[in-house]
Amino acid sequence: MKIFGEPPITDMNMQLLIDTAKKLVADHKGLLAMDESNPTCNKRFAKLDIPQTVEARRAYREMIVTTSGLSESISGVILYDETIRQKKSDGTPFLKILTDAGIIPGIKVDTGAKDLAAHPGEKITEGLDGLRDRLKEYFQMGARFAKWRAVIAIGEGIPTRSCIEANAHALARYAALCQEAGLVPIVEPEVLMDGGHTLERCRQVTEETLRTVFVQLNCQRVLLEGMILKPNMVLPGFTCLPHQEVEESAIGEQQFQVRLTDRRPDEEQDIDEVANITVKSLWRTVPAAVPGIAFLSGGQEAELASTRLNVMNLRFKSQLPWALSFSFARAIQQPALEIWQGKESNVKAAQQALLHRARCNRAARRGEYTAVMEKK
Ligand code: 13P
Repeated sequence: MKIFGEPPITDMNMQLLIDTAKKLVADHKGLLAMDESNPTCNKRFAKLDIPQTVEARRAYREMIVTTSGLSESISGVILYDETIRQKKSDGTPFLKILTDAGIIPGIKVDTGAKDLAAHPGEKITEGLDGLRDRLKEYFQMGARFAKWRAVIAIGEGIPTRSCIEANAHALARYAALCQEAGLVPIVEPEVLMDGGHTLERCRQVTEETLRTVFVQLNCQRVLLEGMILKPNMVLPGFTCLPHQEVEESAIGEQQFQVRLTDRRPDEEQDIDEVANITVKSLWRTVPAAVPGIAFLSGGQEAELASTRLNVMNLRFKSQLPWALSFSFARAIQQPALEIWQGKESNVKAAQQALLHRARCNRAARRGEYTAVMEKK
């Protein structure tokens, strides 16, 4: 079969990419991002007085990958370079535990967001140098997908066009290299929630970013059928003040009037508006050839992230060309981390909490998540 805009990757890779991308969003499962870099993981440990050591990070990741039943809700996990090489205390590699459980291993391959020269307050994600060789090694180790996160901050006079374009270009070059190596690229352009911007401003920036990203992906001949998009939900900034906005929204045959009146971002009644606007933005910008959209959680409270994903699927699932899924880190792990506290005696309870969040998010993919699921 010839695919429109077919990139020059081998037939074998093309089929592998399409199959892997489909598997990552199949059966209402989603992704677990456990790819925090060492500094990020250490910061989260420090808040809970957990020692910031290689061994503590290994023990934490062992708690996660040995959670029995995780594969019922999780199709793939994203690892970090340190973690992909780590082993359980009995010597079994994490990679073996995951693949034996039917979970596809993925790997974060960017080397972090650095200050963008001449653009105060803006970042560019690095990691393209030597990437081809690193991808080869990860594929040989067993990884079948990868992740690269670009961050777009909203503030006074930012984001600039140059920041959006530079990040979109890097994402597209990363994605093409991944596909050449047989790895499905998770393309993550994250519009940050930090700041006092409105939901409408986040919508504008998200749409502009996604449009630019897909121009660049096409330009670099990325096979859209063999990638997953990992965007932010469209949300007001964390410190956004109550505001008033009205907007007409249309998805397929349905019309919605979106009204935001004197509401704080995290309030219950905002959920429908967030779902409508997020889906509308994606509808406008993401080609139908992309098999799945897996949201990041971005610092949202875990139950709220599940609720928002649920409402999107409940209202729009049957009208959308792509699966609406999740690729959460904090919104799956945080409750478990807080229970674990670095103590062996808390492992079982932490695993229960992790499994619970994974199940809630799978239910949200079906539009079947309810508050009753949270009752202890
Ligand atoms: P959060 O879900 O915590 O935003 O993390 C997702 C992620 O993988 C960031 O790159």
